[in-house]
Amino acid sequence: MNLSVAPAVGSAAAGSGPETAPVLAVKNIEVVYNSVILVLRGVSLEVPQGGIVALLGGNGAGKSTTLKSVSTLLASERGAVTKGSIEFRGKRTDNLMPGDMVGMGMVQVMEGRRCFAHLTVEENLTAGAYARPIKGKELNDALERVYAYFPRLKERRSSLAGYTSGGEQQMTAIGRAMMAKPSMLLLDEPSMGLAPQIVVEIFEIVRELNQKEGVSILLAEQNTNVALKYSDYGYILESGRIMMDGSAKALAENKDVKEFYLGMSSEGRKSFRDMKSYRRRKRWI
Ligand SMILES: Nc1ncnc2c1ncn2[C@@H]1O[C@H](COP(=O)(O)OP(=O)(O)O)[C@@H](O)[C@H]1O
Ligand SMILES: [Mg+2]
Repeated sequence: MNLSVAPAVGSAAAGSGPETAPVLAVKNIEVVYNSVILVLRGVSLEVPQGGIVALLGGNGAGKSTTLKSVSTLLASERGAVTKGSIEFRGKRTDNLMPGDMVGMGMVQVMEGRRCFAHLTVEENLTAGAYARPIKGKELNDALERVYAYFPRLKERRSSLAGYTSGGEQQMTAIGRAMMAKPSMLLLDEPSMGLAPQIVVEIFEIVRELNQKEGVSILLAEQNTNVALKYSDYGYILESGRIMMDGSAKALAENKDVKEFYLGMSSEGRKSFRDMKSYRRRKRWI
């Protein structure tokens, strides 16, 4: 029942200074699809103002479900938050719609860089300003701002998105989100299927965006290695539960994380299967 709220951590009530209050607080949420499939089992996480936080875990762990719970896109997939609460800028999101979230400054970049293939790169970017329709000089300035971060997109502005590379499509998807001038971005597996040097290029831009504009970022990734390099703090999700969390540095140095997550760039998903048998032997939290 939605009425029972878990005891708040340090209660984000008016008194506690706005600088220290997290921009996003997910408190002990449970998520169910189609009224029966329990996917998240008590997930809690926080994103501090101006922070980059990584949500790590293998395929099916619940990363996308967590991001969709936060952006409220979950309802369109017949999912529901059945316990716990989510607060964005101190406001509970229970009764908000995706459009309200965009209006409050939160934009999600979906997994699989969903671009409109039959539109040009620039038309895709322009579509990102839908929440606050703009034209003329204002539109041009907004596009130039995106092109300043992604010079490649400027070169490809007239190409149909469907004919650009995977990296350019991911950049287009992030650039489109930037057109809404977000204060917080949710990025779902930006590295998926991209060559390592393109992944670095994209993460460098994400970091720049965070540092220059103070955009807070919650990032879901299977690529633990790169995600921990670019984030401040990380949570490891498995089967819908947070198994471990800590500063990016502490996680990167953690023995279990090293063994099961950081070895994956050469071995692919194998390390996650290995972990299943490992966990049968030893519980690590
Ligand atoms: N729309 C949906 N309906 C039912 N089950 C879903 C739906 N979306 C995801 N799931 C299930 O929820 C679990 C977590 O999925 P997901 O959040 O996509 O994980 P991740 O992003 O970490 O790969 C998986 O078992 C998946 O099959
Ligand atoms: Mg996913």
